[in-house]
Amino acid sequence: MRKIKAGIIGMGFIGVSHIEAIRRIGFAELVAVADANFDLAKKKADEYNIPRCYGSIEELLADPEVEVVHNCTPNFLHLEINEKIIKSGKHIFSEKPLARFSSESEKMLELLKQYPDTVAGVSFNYRMNPLVREMKQKYINGDIGKATLAHGTYLQDFLLYDTDYNWRIEPEICGPSRCVADIGSHWMDTVQTILGAKITKVCADLVITIPVRKKPKGQVETFSLNTNTEYEEKPVKTEDWGAILFEMDNGVHGVFCVSEVSAGHGCGLVVEINGSKGSMKWEQERADEMWMGWRDGPNYLVKRNPNHMTPEARKYTYLAGGHPEGWNDAFRNNIYAFYKFIGDGKKIGVDTPDFATFEEGHYIMKLTEAIVESSKTKSWVAIK
Ligand SMILES: NC(=O)c1ccc[n+]([C@@H]2O[C@H](COP(=O)([O-])OP(=O)(O)OC[C@H]3O[C@@H](n4cnc5c(N)ncnc54)[C@H](O)[C@@H]3O)[C@@H](O)[C@H]2O)c1
Repeated sequence: MRKIKAGIIGMGFIGVSHIEAIRRIGFAELVAVADANFDLAKKKADEYNIPRCYGSIEELLADPEVEVVHNCTPNFLHLEINEKIIKSGKHIFSEKPLARFSSESEKMLELLKQYPDTVAGVSFNYRMNPLVREMKQKYINGDIGKATLAHGTYLQDFLLYDTDYNWRIEPEICGPSRCVADIGSHWMDTVQTILGAKITKVCADLVITIPVRKKPKGQVETFSLNTNTEYEEKPVKTEDWGAILFEMDNGVHGVFCVSEVSAGHGCGLVVEINGSKGSMKWEQERADEMWMGWRDGPNYLVKRNPNHMTPEARKYTYLAGGHPEGWNDAFRNNIYAFYKFIGDGKKIGVDTPDFATFEEGHYIMKLTEAIVESSKTKSWVAIK
């Protein structure tokens, strides 16, 4: 396959994971990175031996070699930067949440209609874990019978203390939801992927446990420990945690909980499906195994091993059993699927990709907004 040349904008926490994932794909080549903080872009370009670095999206888009642009900037820039990428005619892989508001993601969808050859994907990486695919296939095969209940969590602790601060706390940058938009979006994408169904109705309780936070006067990197001692007090307007009841279009009901203030959890995504015959559960923090539960027989752990997996899920895994695969590998699978789709000359709307489309990213935005509305009105809200 020909080499597909890529550029990334945003060299913060997740930008580096994009560098490493692209580097693991034989037919992709990272030729440029960009960040508003040019020194950071330069540092990453030096560290990873990337040929060119820039300080703006305009310079990155003017690079004629770049065919695909990854947008790894904070949420408030997704509309502006994604629109610029789409208008440039380059393919686009955007970080999630796709935007701050569904009105923004809708504008991207409208614009994409004018660019039918553009491949546009969203970075919902958990759907690409081999055992998430195994759960999906086991469900299709009827192993646990008819699904009755879906439940789980996505817990983190990086905002546990009132001295913890990040751009995600500011609604102007993150959007009107924090936990749900940031990590609930991943959970919803994962459960929708496993069950091949959509969440259509929600009833939520979103809670602020730290109403005022101390914003450090200096810079704090995402997920790093804050060592600043000078602060300004900032009122908090978005949820520290939330609980969400939901209904899906396949009749399954469920519940999930998201939190950024749950000590001991770095990336605690857990999803469990209970069916009429059995149950299955996957925990991101133990990514290389899944649990199967039965009433009339012994429960057991399934260790990921390509030789024992369904043929459909096997294509998302490559290391032999006993050689753990995890977060980075699923992340790479997602980006691989995106580049393969481009390399194979496939088209959104004609072919069905494994990675999330902008349409799916937009739907998650509508779900996020419905959850915020539900918590405010203390009532069930259906997705419009
Ligand atoms: N898929 C995942 O699992 C995952 C994980 C973490 C973050 N994310 C998403 O990735 C995005 C970035 O999050 P992060 O944690 O990496 O944030 P971050 O703050 O660590 O990095 C953002 C980078 O964008 C740069 N930037 C800011 N304004 C810019 C501009 N105008 N032009 C160019 N660069 C600019 C910043 O200098 C910074 O380096 C968010 O949308 C977030 O939701 C996704």
